[in-house]
Amino acid sequence: MLKFNPMFTPWQVAEQDFPKDGALEEKFKFLLRYAILAPSGHNTQPWKFKLQPDGVFIYADYTRRLHVVDPDNRELVISIGAAIMNLRVAAAYFGYACTVQYQPKANTPELLAFARLSESSQTDHELKKLFHAIVQRRTNRNAYEVRSLAEDELKRLQKLTAGKKAAIRIVTDKAIQTSIAELVSEGDYIQMSDPAFRQELASWVRSNWTRRGDGIAAYGFGIPGIISWLGPWFMRTFDLGKPQAKKDYQFAKEAAALVIVHGEDTKESLLEVGEMFERFVLTATSMGLQYAFLNQPVEVQDLRTRLRAILGLADLPQLLFRIGYAEPQKRAMPRRPLDDVLIEG
Ligand SMILES: Cc1cc2nc3c(=O)[nH]c(=O)nc-3n(C[C@H](O)[C@H](O)[C@H](O)COP(=O)(O)O)c2cc1C
Repeated sequence: MLKFNPMFTPWQVAEQDFPKDGALEEKFKFLLRYAILAPSGHNTQPWKFKLQPDGVFIYADYTRRLHVVDPDNRELVISIGAAIMNLRVAAAYFGYACTVQYQPKANTPELLAFARLSESSQTDHELKKLFHAIVQRRTNRNAYEVRSLAEDELKRLQKLTAGKKAAIRIVTDKAIQTSIAELVSEGDYIQMSDPAFRQELASWVRSNWTRRGDGIAAYGFGIPGIISWLGPWFMRTFDLGKPQAKKDYQFAKEAAALVIVHGEDTKESLLEVGEMFERFVLTATSMGLQYAFLNQPVEVQDLRTRLRAILGLADLPQLLFRIGYAEPQKRAMPRRPLDDVLIEG
């Protein structure tokens, strides 16, 4: 057996290894190998799972919370929603109906959902189509081509915008993009000038040869080779607000589209935000599109109010990202072994 490498091993999950003749719990465990490939804030992977005879309990791991950038655990809960969507897609692909109940037990704040799984010959066809995108999806922070989305692509994405307690807005109007770009760059100045923000980010930045299963390897920020060893020190020590603001302003303004997922600040709504976001980016990935976050105006309270006003939202902006055409980001971010996030017994 090859040694576990967090950069590669989790991403090399092969569908032919699905334990067709295995016990039900073994099958559910295999499906979770796709759930843990979901994105999460700073790649904290703030989830835990407990296998049950009829499904999986999904927990928040609050020990992995980001006190500075996400003081209310908003993005933590959203990340778990993204993992739930991956589980739904993998379940559909391997022939399991998946019904998810949010917050199944009162007075258990860690327990966010129960995914009931049952064999079915008629699983969701649209979800199945996203299966191969799970291992292809990457956050891609590079520059994209300055090119509009094709009409049919936009139409396909528009179909994913309505939810129950959350929704998605796709912005392609350049004037609105420019107003949002201004908030993004303001956000960069505010966040990067805060030593606590930089300290927290730095504590999750890893060298390009990291053997740790979490955090953001420096290549995710375009930091190459040997210099990547200095990545955390660099982030911690220098206020990079000005160059970051300039770059992000351009990215937001020129993006083929800006996408806002919005909803309320309740756990139910945030889980749905995460699910809708992940479905959206898996679809975009399957279409050959790239995406990266510009969450600054959602993370700074005053900017969030202004973003809400620009968009005329009745509820609150939760995520902001750009999509477009670019060379795919080849290298994946590390993941912890599945056994590290399973609760036994
Ligand atoms: C809720 C959430 C918030 C995130 N916020 C940011 C962000 O503000 N800036 C950023 O560059 N990446 C952000 N990310 C992306 C993560 O850093 C990324 O998912 C993680 O490093 C794993 O990499 P991968 O998406 O390529 O698998 C966010 C992801 C999630 C799910």
